[in-house]
Amino acid sequence: MRAFGDRWWSRLRYRPARGANLVERAALVSGNAVVGWYNGVCTRTLQVSGLKGGTQVSTRRGTALVTGASSGIGAAYAERLAAQGWDTVLVARRAQRLDDLARRLREKTGTTAETLVADLSVPDDLARVVSRAAGDDIGFLLNNAGINGYGPFAELEPDLLAKVLHINVLAVTALTRAAVPGMLARGDGTVVNVASQLAFAGSLPPHPLPERAVYGGTKGYVVTFTRTLAAELAATPLRIQVLCPGLTATEFHRSRGREPVPGGDQAVHVEGGMPVGQVVDASLTALDGDRVVCVPGLDEPALIDGLAEAEVAIRAAARRGAS
Ligand SMILES: NC(=O)c1ccc[n+]([C@@H]2O[C@H](COP(=O)([O-])OP(=O)(O)OC[C@H]3O[C@@H](n4cnc5c(N)ncnc54)[C@H](OP(=O)(O)O)[C@@H]3O)[C@@H](O)[C@H]2O)c1
Repeated sequence: MRAFGDRWWSRLRYRPARGANLVERAALVSGNAVVGWYNGVCTRTLQVSGLKGGTQVSTRRGTALVTGASSGIGAAYAERLAAQGWDTVLVARRAQRLDDLARRLREKTGTTAETLVADLSVPDDLARVVSRAAGDDIGFLLNNAGINGYGPFAELEPDLLAKVLHINVLAVTALTRAAVPGMLARGDGTVVNVASQLAFAGSLPPHPLPERAVYGGTKGYVVTFTRTLAAELAATPLRIQVLCPGLTATEFHRSRGREPVPGGDQAVHVEGGMPVGQVVDASLTALDGDRVVCVPGLDEPALIDGLAEAEVAIRAAARRGAS
């Protein structure tokens, strides 16, 4: 058994569990593998090559499960995670898109890429994905799949409304519930839930924004759910983030979500928006900084702090009024 100091961990580009002290970070070097420990629990295995030179390390970081990986933010995030050494489980309805991405990831990064074809609004399909998310290799969960179901509320088809709730709320919650216990037991794990800046647009009328009461409501749920869960798990090593993109250059507006966008190649909706790579960059940077709420493009994090301060102030004032 050999203990590494911080210098060694940073050379290996390995991020020890948050809060782990030096003794807990003891590492066993055996052959070409490094095993990290947190509170006596094995956390990760790294495949180490060329340690002699000191920096050539190809990491096996565990498995990242990415929903909505067949296009847009999910596909870009999966590419980035694979480039970092994560094996991936790619989830969506369009099998061919997932197969193409999985092949690219394997060829480019040498990581393992599984595909899991599932419609997250179908209970049996969701159950299969939940079961995979509970796997003891899952170290990163990206709840990214989402549909918009935009339209005037009084005309919204009830089955589409239900689908929006199933994918944007129920699946996010069920998958997080499936993954978190194992992450806690292993002392390591990351959950990123994709919401939207429309979660903060409740007071704004449509035009130029879309008609979006149900969509905005689901994303409001994702923001509150994730922030509250992050507060509950603050003393653990887990990293929890809610990612709130603004308009992003993906296929998102090409479908209301009932059916997938047709075609084998990714397309971008006419509204354009921020490139997906910038959204992923913002999320990864925020994870490194342990920031729970990530709003790509927002240069003033103080505004997010202001949200928390307003909540505390409202509750305190209401309590004063009630006494
Ligand atoms: N683009 C924007 O302007 C924007 C802004 C803010 C937030 N967001 C959020 O970002 C997330 C990703 O969207 P995107 O912009 O990358 O759009 P996108 O290109 O349309 O990607 C949506 C992904 O969700 C998957 N999906 C949709 N319905 C599904 C279902 N029933 N079961 C399983 N997977 C399903 C899609 O795959 P299949 O069709 O193959 O199933 C696709 O991979 C969403 O949560 C969205 O709300 C987007």
